[in-house]
Amino acid sequence: MAKIRILGNHDLHLHGRVKISGAKNAVLPAIAASLLTKEPLQLHNIPLVKDVFTILTLMEGLGAEYSLENDSLSIQTRNIRSDEASYEHVRAMRASILVLGPLLARHGKAIVALPGGCAIGSRPIDLHIHGLEKMGAFISLEHGYIHAETNRLKGTEIEFEKKTVGGTENLVMAACLAQGETILRNCSLEPEVVNLCHLLVKMGAKIDGIGEETMQIKGVESLGGATHEIIPDRIEAGTFLVAGALNQGKITLEGVIPEHLTTVIEKLKFSGTEIHRHPHRVDVLRVQGAPEIKPQDVTTSPYPGFPTDMQAQFTVLMTQAEGTSIITETIFDRRFSHVNELLRLGANIEVFQDKAIVKGKTPLSGAEVIASDLRASASLVLAGLIANGETIINDMEHLDRGYEKIEEKLKTLGAHIERLPEEESS
Ligand code: EPZ
Repeated sequence: MAKIRILGNHDLHLHGRVKISGAKNAVLPAIAASLLTKEPLQLHNIPLVKDVFTILTLMEGLGAEYSLENDSLSIQTRNIRSDEASYEHVRAMRASILVLGPLLARHGKAIVALPGGCAIGSRPIDLHIHGLEKMGAFISLEHGYIHAETNRLKGTEIEFEKKTVGGTENLVMAACLAQGETILRNCSLEPEVVNLCHLLVKMGAKIDGIGEETMQIKGVESLGGATHEIIPDRIEAGTFLVAGALNQGKITLEGVIPEHLTTVIEKLKFSGTEIHRHPHRVDVLRVQGAPEIKPQDVTTSPYPGFPTDMQAQFTVLMTQAEGTSIITETIFDRRFSHVNELLRLGANIEVFQDKAIVKGKTPLSGAEVIASDLRASASLVLAGLIANGETIINDMEHLDRGYEKIEEKLKTLGAHIERLPEEESS
């Protein structure tokens, strides 16, 4: 199991520049979208994270050919060789479900393993399935697999009971090749959804209302290839902003879209963090921590609200605030697994149902901890930076799923962080 060791201290002084990578949650649907055409897609600003390699392996199994050079990916599925996304792939990455809509739209058949739950909650996909059924897919669930078939999807009106990023993405992709017009209501507004829709339009899709809660998609007979830039990862950027907020030195983030981080920046500024834009570069943010951090109550909500993917990281900052903060998680039903590990580092946090009550300021001290999911592992890295002494974080495979070379990026800022050689599995 991968381990990371951090030598942290209360008086963190990181300095320097960090380049933010492309967004994992934008590139995964973009790669799935390549199933919608026989032509090649050229995607740039690809983050070299584990989930990208996982979905590329899945895509190869379906018949895709690809080449990845630095951060540019060329991918093409001339023919669908298989229509099955196995449990092995889906277990490794829930986002494999994003091939369901495109496979049905392109190929008329898809067999996709039902994603189970995960460390952050039950993660159902009922909204994906109901939407596709309304578009004329025949779907049965057998032995842990979704069996979906259709002669051709038909446009219809669908209103999502609740905001679902993956559900919006699956249904938009399916609707692009459906017969007639589809109206989707209560769509997710996340920048990653918008980035996908811009790609689909470049491929020839007819989508109105991109970035709004109601989208109209006029189905077309076929889609073509396109070249597209993946947006920067706003959650990686937010994670480094929290690192800066915990830090007395200055960190400069490059390659970000500040507009994607409005609520995170606002909350950090309210807590006393200094965040400034660059006078001449729109993609740069400078961040420096406040000597005294003010407690902030935060409630996660769908974009443009405070992102659930930033909840664990912000919780770490609030352990250093002078007072009590209430963190309310409204998106997932079990997204506090980082709390027990933060308690081992000396934090004072109590969880009651959907709330974590954080009492600060609690100086943290290094300890051995275990990562449970992607963003929890990022929060443990942040905590390790400001914990006095040595912190060992186990199961760092979670972190590698969504952060590109985070320890190298932190090391260039002056952090004492290193990946330990993998122990022979006992
Ligand atoms: C996406 O997951 C992201 N993953 C998640 O990021 C992110 O936390 C989440 O959106 C919310 O922003 C990717 O984009 C690959 P949802 P997704 O469908 O699409 C419920 C990370 O760390 N729901 O918006 O799976 C669901 O249980 C990951 O990068 C249903 O009830 O999330 C949850 O409570 C973690 N039925 C809520 O909706 C459904 O059919 C939001 O889920 C679908 C979802």
